Amino acid sequence: METYEAILTRRSVPKVGENRPPQDQIVRLLEAGVRAPTHHLTQPWRFVVLTGDARKELGDAWAAAEIRVQGKDPESVRGKPLRAPVIITVIAHPKSHLPKVVDIEEHHAIGALMQNILLAAHSEGLGAMIRTGKAGEFEEVRQLLGVSNDEYIAGFIYVGYPLEDDDRAPTRRTPVEDITEWRGWG
Ligand SMILES: Cc1cc2nc3c(=O)[nH]c(=O)nc-3n(C[C@H](O)[C@H](O)[C@H](O)COP(=O)(O)O)c2cc1C
Repeated sequence: METYEAILTRRSVPKVGENRPPQDQIVRLLEAGVRAPTHHLTQPWRFVVLTGDARKELGDAWAAAEIRVQGKDPESVRGKPLRAPVIITVIAHPKSHLPKVVDIEEHHAIGALMQNILLAAHSEGLGAMIRTGKAGEFEEVRQLLGVSNDEYIAGFIYVGYPLEDDDRAPTRRTPVEDITEWRGWG
């Protein structure tokens, strides 16, 4: 798929089939991800890629956290990681402690990495979307995924094959002319 076509036709795909894309295809997505630019080449990221029962472990950790916080067992949460056959956990490790490294630039870079993964998935005919929220902040989940104190979970990218009848158009955007000032263009 040509670059502009991929960018202009990508959209978040919340519902995907149960079939698991092959591991080498997921590797390609990760390789596309790490081509994102990073100032000082800090590459402030790593991945934990879940499939099969590893997703259930995520659901169990998430549910355990909800039980701790709410005092009850939210079964709906336990099943959420099963919404896609593959979950790429993007773990951010900002190198802001190093000289010259600017914290916000590390977060920009992680966003670029995630967009690269979404675009690569779309180009491969896969459906993907980023999911964030409380799950990635819970200690139970961080511990399960081995996230250290100087790291955070930037997002879970859910990946699978889109459903055959999913022909939704790209999500709407504010027109560029509404948000752009042109200066010095004559
Ligand atoms: C950092 C980030 C976090 C997101 N987290 C969620 C999420 O937790 N749940 C969700 O339904 N969508 C999430 N999304 C997807 C956005 O809702 C989606 O990108 C937006 O509605 C635009 O739609 P599009 O991706 O189809 O263009 C997230 C997107 C980004 C960039």
